[in-house]
Amino acid sequence: MAIFLDSGDPKQVKRFMKMGIIRGVTTNPTILRKDGCAGGMEGLKKIEVEIAGLIHPCPLSVEVTSNDKKKMLDQAIEFSRWAENIVVKIPVHGPEGEIENVEVIHALETKHDIRVNVTAMMNAQQGLLAALAGATYVSIFGGRVNDMGYNCVEEIGKLRDLLDDFDLKAKIIAGSTREILNVVEWLDAGAHFVTVVPRLLEGMLVHPYTKETVRMFLSDARELKSR
Ligand code: E4P
Repeated sequence: MAIFLDSGDPKQVKRFMKMGIIRGVTTNPTILRKDGCAGGMEGLKKIEVEIAGLIHPCPLSVEVTSNDKKKMLDQAIEFSRWAENIVVKIPVHGPEGEIENVEVIHALETKHDIRVNVTAMMNAQQGLLAALAGATYVSIFGGRVNDMGYNCVEEIGKLRDLLDDFDLKAKIIAGSTREILNVVEWLDAGAHFVTVVPRLLEGMLVHPYTKETVRMFLSDARELKSR
């Protein structure tokens, strides 16, 4: 069980790798855009290759930019050649509910030996089918599930039980973190990984009372020296 960083910013990746607290990185087009990635496919490649190098051998998830079956397959093959630790992210279905994405996931894992992170899932039933198709990672968007008024803890727990009962290799990534408490709560519910944005990771570490306590230690240390 561990923490991934949800970021497309190499500076943040370097920062948290140095602390030894992350075990991989997840990206998607929205995160990359927010973190300043530009320059089309070349720009994407540059950033992803840099991040892959910074975290190797930990996994880096890179998402396809099309929902066309052939393009997803071609991009997945291309991305997987950029670095050996790249995992390709494929949404469980398309914007209109195109379920052929699952065919692509199955082909990548079984025929092309490419590891897939099935993304944008909202419940255990989607996760089970993605795992049956052979996915290495199944991503449930916990924050989005909760935004809709459901409790993602139940979905994560149900999915973990199913994966264990049927001996499926897929590991659960709980993403879409919104609050600091999501991290421990979702790991405790059965997620193998929670992917966390830098702001929340920092928030997990820093506590006002710890600050006050350390200030007290430092102030008393100064007093010791002056006597
Ligand atoms: C992780 O893999 C996801 O892409 C990410 O956590 C989605 O988060 P969001 O719901 O904030 O877009």
